Amino acid sequence: MKSADFLTGITTTGTPHLGNFVGAIRPAVETSKDSSLTSYYFLADYHSIIKCQDPERVKRSTLEIAASWIALGLDTSNCVFYRQSDVPEILELTWILTCLTPKGLLNRAHAYKAAVDENREINEQDLDRNITMGLFCYPILMAADILMFNARKVPVGRDQTQHLEMTRDIASRFNHNYADLFRLPEVVIDESSAVLAGLDGRKMSKSYNNTIPLFDTSKKLRKSIMKIQTNSQGPDEPKDHETCTLFSLYKAFATDEEVEKMKKRYKGGIAWGTMKQELFEYIDHLLDEPRKTYNELMESPEEIHAVLRKGSDKARSYSAPFLKTIKETIGIQSFV
Ligand code: TRP
Repeated sequence: MKSADFLTGITTTGTPHLGNFVGAIRPAVETSKDSSLTSYYFLADYHSIIKCQDPERVKRSTLEIAASWIALGLDTSNCVFYRQSDVPEILELTWILTCLTPKGLLNRAHAYKAAVDENREINEQDLDRNITMGLFCYPILMAADILMFNARKVPVGRDQTQHLEMTRDIASRFNHNYADLFRLPEVVIDESSAVLAGLDGRKMSKSYNNTIPLFDTSKKLRKSIMKIQTNSQGPDEPKDHETCTLFSLYKAFATDEEVEKMKKRYKGGIAWGTMKQELFEYIDHLLDEPRKTYNELMESPEEIHAVLRKGSDKARSYSAPFLKTIKETIGIQSFV
């Protein structure tokens, strides 16, 4: 295997929703098909246990995410699609990097600082209460995910920018201390599709509980869309598309031409009920085929396992020899 032109991880705690599709899955599927690129996509299950210690949830989410990505057209023969825990070299590298990472760097991590702030707000004496070393060290695990495959570009949400800076910092320390083994990765944030509005108009996110799952039944999808909040304008009143959640969802899926037409219909006054029904039909149609594949895959998880196993074999053909070089570089030679 070659090093990664693109690499990104998905934490296995939730059920994939429309926001994930637009922000992460759709662009990754496109990249995965480009035969001139080597892209790595993985299920970050060791990240998931930082926040989610419910084994059934982790297991189910891993399958749901894998099935979704495959059903939506990820080219798993061209890219490398694997489960983090199937590549043990990542965890070995994590320890090596841990020994190079100043504690002060991690003290400044947003996720850790937010947890400390929460304790401060409730006047907790011990500011580190309920904070695990997993949460504290999480940026190092992420650095290992990235550096293990010498990734060039890392597409992530805006909230992950600091982790990429830390990864570069840690890589530089290794390169400076030992030898120039690691490439410094670049963060990629796709502004155009990064944020999709959810049921209440805020960013669609599991933490706001306002998501529309990708592969609910048609009936449930319709119900979700009918629940999207709108203003109280009457059926014939001209409406503003720019501030409308329904429109922003439509725009994320429809072609430019269709979007222009819809703008005109907003001006002319389109009833919310009509718009909701059309939005539902549009998305439902788009998801019809992938939904069938998704359901088939969820019924035969062994097919998902087989795809992921192939992926981890490919990943390890890069990580195993590279880890050997890294270990030799730090003075831990193999005896055989
Ligand atoms: N922390 C990332 C997130 O919450 C997921 C992730 C884990 C990741 N390891 C990664 C993303 C490596 C990119 C590269 O979104």
